Amino acid sequence: MALADAMAERVSVDALAIPVALGEPLVGPAAEIDRQLGGLLSDAVSAEFRGRIDEVLTLPSAGVLGARRVLLYGVGKTEDLDGQRLRHAHHQMVRRARAYGYRRLAVLCSPPLGPEHLAAVVEGSVMGSWELRSRQTAEPISELEELLLSGFGEGRDGEAIAAQELGEATNRVRQWQNMPPNDLTPETLTRIARQVGERHGLEVDVLGPEELQAGGFELLLGVGAGSDLAPRLVRMQHRGALIGGGRSDVRLALVGKGVTFDSGGLSIKKAEQMRTMKGDMAGAAAVLAAIDVIAARRLPLDVMAVVAITENMIGGSAQRPGDIVMSANGRTVEIVDTDAEGRLILADAITYAVQRGATHVVDVATLTGAAGIALGHGATLGVANDEELWSWIAEAAQRAGDRVWRMPTYPEYEVLLASQVADLRNGYYGEAGAITAGMFLREFVEGRPWAHLDIAASSWNTNAELTTIPRGPLGAGTRLLVHLAELVAADAPVQPSSDGTFS
Ligand code: BES
Ligand code: MN
Ligand code: ZN
Repeated sequence: MALADAMAERVSVDALAIPVALGEPLVGPAAEIDRQLGGLLSDAVSAEFRGRIDEVLTLPSAGVLGARRVLLYGVGKTEDLDGQRLRHAHHQMVRRARAYGYRRLAVLCSPPLGPEHLAAVVEGSVMGSWELRSRQTAEPISELEELLLSGFGEGRDGEAIAAQELGEATNRVRQWQNMPPNDLTPETLTRIARQVGERHGLEVDVLGPEELQAGGFELLLGVGAGSDLAPRLVRMQHRGALIGGGRSDVRLALVGKGVTFDSGGLSIKKAEQMRTMKGDMAGAAAVLAAIDVIAARRLPLDVMAVVAITENMIGGSAQRPGDIVMSANGRTVEIVDTDAEGRLILADAITYAVQRGATHVVDVATLTGAAGIALGHGATLGVANDEELWSWIAEAAQRAGDRVWRMPTYPEYEVLLASQVADLRNGYYGEAGAITAGMFLREFVEGRPWAHLDIAASSWNTNAELTTIPRGPLGAGTRLLVHLAELVAADAPVQPSSDGTFS
């Protein structure tokens, strides 16, 4: 896809896309185009076109414009608009444009869009170019070849390219989430990780069954025991402190859950719940795509990616409810539910990150159905033990248009993690499921600043009724992690965003 700045009236494209806010008249550049078209657009806006997200209307340009068609698209109510909704609005708009066969598209910068929304427009549009139907033999809908930005100002190529990179990184994660689990096996995911590492000359270590045994990573081995495919712990290190100019006292670890298929193990899932479990590696995927961009940008910060990779299956040597296993840092864990496997493998992955010198830990995981019960698909659920790290995460989420909502960790719930027979149990907490899962992980960070991002619902929209959120894999966390590393590297003072702004 090519990006270029261009004059709205003259650019020769399949369609000129014009944003419309719900309940608001066309103003500014859109009103100017409307005048040239003899009021055709304002007529539509006062009649059948409302301006809801996911709503589009195409009209002829009557030979007046360079564009063959005008495409009105809704962005919803201005007061509801934030970075995430804006990206989704462009995602849906581009998807429709592709369904109509448009290959060259120009987006007009006109209220409620302003020049400050360039990244959201580009990222959303790039994401709208992604195709779910990866293996259907029928012809897919057409690809977007060119996106022109009109009226966003000159000299912004660097920003547009950076946004395109983040959109493409998000799409890469969605692609991995969408791969069938008989193809994206632990071995394949490990190969993908190695390729990312090799591309940037990162230091990569891959711990297979023998190394895991030697290092005492029994929690990861225990989960992997029911599968014929071997689990792995992969770490890659970006040495950004050597580049200089950033915060050299922080060594950030991004830790991802890479369960390539979660059957639940012997505490087996119902068929309905198991259907989407190929996506249980979304956290690992987000971490891999993020470090790819972080390394490509040569950010001046030490960042390591640690991904715990396994299947959760029911073979003859599968772990049993009642088993007691020892973590890599010497804590005993009673397995009460083999379906609470994510916290087990992440605990060992966090221990490995700490052993390898992490000062700050951020884990990303499709960890609990409870995250979706609490927040639905509209945001990632966060838990953290450190205010500074959380303020970076909140700011990164805002910049990325990738929402997070923080949950509390009340001390009253600590007893829920306790086991009669071991130091900890891995489930059966009875309430506050997403919070307590996070609190389990906190037991392994050894006092370091830590944040936990539960993307179980935010990484994949399974609810067809939510028309303003794209369906299927969403790549949650990917852009957030890149912005996070950039913020920490710059140690930018974080100001709370004022009301009404969105980026
Ligand atoms: N991978 C699931 C969580 C999940 C649920 C992801 C729905 C995506 C969509 C996780 O391993 C799991 O099974 N969690 C259990 C934990 C429980 C047994 C304590 C859950 O949420 O039911
Ligand atoms: Mn599970
Ligand atoms: Zn899982």
